[in-house]
Amino acid sequence: MLTVKQLNQFYGGSHTLWDLDLEVRKGSCTCLMGRNGMGKTTLLRCIMGLLSIAAGEVQFEGDNLCAKPAEARARAGIGYVPQGREIFPQLTVAENLEIGLAARRSRGIPQHIFELFPVLRRMLGRRGGDLSGGQQQQLAIGRALVLQPTLLILDEPTEGIQPNIVHEIGDVIQRLRAAGLTVLLVEQKLPFARRVASDFHVIDKGRLVASGPIGQLTDELVQRHLTV
Ligand SMILES: Nc1ncnc2c1ncn2[C@@H]1O[C@H](COP(=O)(O)OP(=O)(O)OP(=O)(O)O)[C@@H](O)[C@H]1O
Ligand SMILES: [Mg+2]
Repeated sequence: MLTVKQLNQFYGGSHTLWDLDLEVRKGSCTCLMGRNGMGKTTLLRCIMGLLSIAAGEVQFEGDNLCAKPAEARARAGIGYVPQGREIFPQLTVAENLEIGLAARRSRGIPQHIFELFPVLRRMLGRRGGDLSGGQQQQLAIGRALVLQPTLLILDEPTEGIQPNIVHEIGDVIQRLRAAGLTVLLVEQKLPFARRVASDFHVIDKGRLVASGPIGQLTDELVQRHLTV
C-alpha cells in the first residue's frame, strides 16, 4: 500500500536517512522501531510531505506522492498523528476535530470517532489544553480519523501516557484494523508493539536494518538495535 524506495534525506549538511526501502502491506499494522534519534519521525515527515527529500520515492496505492503537498496526501487517504500530539490547546475538543476536516472541506465529524473515543463526546466543549495527556492523544487520533483515511500513521502514540490509556489505544488500533484500516506505527514499547503489530521494520542511524513479520523480531535484534 505504501512503498518507500531509496529515500535519502538531509538536514542541512547532515545525512539523516540513507537509501531507505520500506513497505507497508495493505491491512497490516506495521511497526517502525528504533532508538531515539535514529530517524523515525524524519521518515514519517518525509512520507507526509512535511520534509523534502534529496532522492528516492514515496508511493501510495501505486501513485508517486513526491510532487504532492501534505494536504493532497491527507486527501489521498493518509492520516497522520504527529509525535507529541500537537493538538491546539486553546481550542475546544470540537474545534480541534473540525480542523481535521479542513483538508477536505467536508462538514460534520463522523460519529464513529465518538464510538472509538466516548471521552471526546463528553468533552466536546473543553479546551484541548485542559485534557490529560492520554485524552489529548485520543483527540489527536480522532482528529486524524475525521477524514476517514485508509492508512493511519501514528508517531509514538503511547509516549508519556498512563498504562490504562495505553491499553485503550491498543484496543482502538485493533478495532481500526478490524474495520479495514492499515496502520504504520512508530513505537518504542516492545510489549505494545508485539501486541498490536503484524510486521516490523527496524531503523538504526537512518538505515533500515531488519524487517519481517513481528514474530521474527528476535531478542538478538532487540538487543542490538532497540532499547530494552
Ligand atoms: N529539524 C532538525 N534539524 C536538524 N536535525 C534534526 C532535526 N530534526 C531531527 N534532527 C536530527 O535527525 C536525527 C533523526 O531525528 P528523528 O527526530 O527523526 O529521530 P527519532 O527516531 O524520531 O527519535 P525519537 O525516538 O527521539 O523521537 C537526529 O539525529 C536528530 O537530532
Ligand atoms: Mg521521533
